[in-house]
Parts: sequence; C-alpha cells; structure tokens
Amino acid sequence: MIIKDIPALGLGTFRLQGEQAYQAVTDALDVGFRHIDTAQIYDNESEVGQALVDSEVPREEYFLTTKVWRTHLNRTGFIPSVKESLEKLGTDYVDLLLIHWPSPEDKTPMDEYLGELVKAKEMGLTKHIGVSNFTIAQLKEALHILPSGSLYVNQIEVQPFMQNREVRAFCATNDVKVTGYNPFYVGEVLKDEVILAIAKKHNTSAAQVALAWQLQSGLITIPASTNIEHMRDNFNSTRLTLASDDLVAIGKLDRGDRKIDPSFAPDWD
Ligand SMILES: NC(=O)c1ccc[n+]([C@@H]2O[C@H](COP(=O)([O-])OP(=O)(O)OC[C@H]3O[C@@H](n4cnc5c(N)ncnc54)[C@H](OP(=O)(O)O)[C@@H]3O)[C@@H](O)[C@H]2O)c1
Repeated sequence: MIIKDIPALGLGTFRLQGEQAYQAVTDALDVGFRHIDTAQIYDNESEVGQALVDSEVPREEYFLTTKVWRTHLNRTGFIPSVKESLEKLGTDYVDLLLIHWPSPEDKTPMDEYLGELVKAKEMGLTKHIGVSNFTIAQLKEALHILPSGSLYVNQIEVQPFMQNREVRAFCATNDVKVTGYNPFYVGEVLKDEVILAIAKKHNTSAAQVALAWQLQSGLITIPASTNIEHMRDNFNSTRLTLASDDLVAIGKLDRGDRKIDPSFAPDWD
C-alpha cells in the first residue's frame, strides 16, 4: 500500500454544497490539484466523493483529507462516523483523518478521542492522522498520548493578518506539518495594498502572492474556489518565487486578526 506525502497545495471545500462541490472538485482535478480537503460538517462528502469516483484520476494519485466533527468525539460515535464518511467519499480510506476541533473544555477527554483516531489508522481507514485548531498546550498533550511520530498535521488558520507564528514554531520543533487554512481570509487578503503591490511587481495576481507566501513559509495551503480560472491561478502559485523583502513585507501584516473563531474554540495561544 502506497503512503503518499501530502501535496503542499490542495483544494478547500468549506461552504461548497451540492452540484457546486461536485463541479469544484471535478474542475480542480482537471486543473491538476491532487489534494482535496473536506470535513464531515461541510455536508459535501457525497458530492466530493462522487466527483473523485467519476474522475479518471486513480485513487492512489490524490490525497484526500476529512475531519471528524466534535459531536463524534467519543468511543461509540467516532469509528462509525469515519465509516460513514468513507461510504460517502466512495473510498476505503482517506489519506489524512483530522480531529476538526478539540473537545470543548475537554468534555470528552483527549485520550478517548485520540485513542479512536489511532484505532481508525490501525483499521486502515486512514493513512495519516492529525488534528486541527489545536493550541500548543493541546498539541503537547496530543504528542504525549499519540504514538511517537504519528501526529502528521495540525490544520490551523494562517493568513497574512493572522500568522499564528508560535503554534507554527512549536509544530516545526516537533516535526508536525502545518496546513494553513483560510489563506485569503475569504477574499479580503486579495484587496490588501501590500499584497497588491507585490503582485504588481511580479506581474501576477494577489492570490498567487498569498499562496506563494504560504508555500515558501513551509506551509501546506488549501484555498477554496468555485471558479476554474481562480483554480488555475492558484495552481500556478507553485511557480512564483517571492523575494526575501516580499516575505518580510507580508510578515509585517500580522495583526492577530482571526477569521474563524466559533464559541467552542479553544483558548487560543
Ligand atoms: N479546519 C478548520 O477548522 C477550517 C476552517 C476554515 C477553513 N478550512 C479549510 O480551508 C479552506 C480554505 O478556507 P476558506 O474556504 O474559508 O477561504 P479561502 O480559501 O481563504 O477563500 C475562499 C474565497 O476566495 C476566493 N478565491 C479563491 N481563489 C481566488 C483567486 N485566485 N482570485 C480571487 N478570488 C479567489 C473564492 O471565490 P471563488 O469561488 O469565486 O473562487 C472564495 O470566495 C476551506 O475550504 C476548508 O477546506 C478549515
């Protein structure tokens, strides 16, 4: 069985529903994306799965991530929910299974749901395991609970206005990859004057600058799009090389401005 590394650029599918989700995944595969990010709560696993099944891309050539929702973080619900996801996704396994959010106020103890996550891997339901929206304190606890070297990814918000440097540094020290979600701050980053000036200098788009910054910072990034031209633009960000002064200028945009902060979020670093 092949265990692939995660492609650094993927397609996010949050907010994509029904036919739009199906078409977005179909278009993304046509453009060349080989990494798709979904979640149980996005309510689009069936459409994402159908698009993957209908495509001519062999299963071993794409990297698929889903995330277990917080109502399933218990011994009875966890594995059945993963099996339901796989059924919807039309596959026997995902490449990466994430805990979408830590259990609020540890309502379910972490060792219980991380134990189920390990079980999912042992059962072959996923190749890799990881977490999302975990703080440094929660990552420390997770690293203590999980088998050594098995925590593959922490998926967290990273965009120029919220660079999440402390968590990223902790992950780097502990050999945990970081997927930066919400790379465009749902579009607002693309209107920023500094980003636009860098784009002009390189004769490219603001979207490519925002993504190249993530990629050159060592992050995995998962922009969402429903527009095939935007997907092509995003895909080409892998060819853009920003200069060190561009990276410094984007670094200065950090103002701790977080877009995704629901009531059940942890006590952020
Ligand atoms: N783990 C978590 O808790 C969590 C939380 C939030 C998000 N995520 C993941 O991260 C992914 C990305 O975040 P997001 O969906 O919130 O927002 P995003 O990717 O930052 O922004 C998406 C928006 O950017 C636009 N866009 C995309 N490419 C563009 C381009 N080249 N030029 C101009 N506009 C462009 C899209 O419009 P068009 O459709 O018109 O292209 C859409 O309105 C999600 O889909 C999800 O998979 C994870």
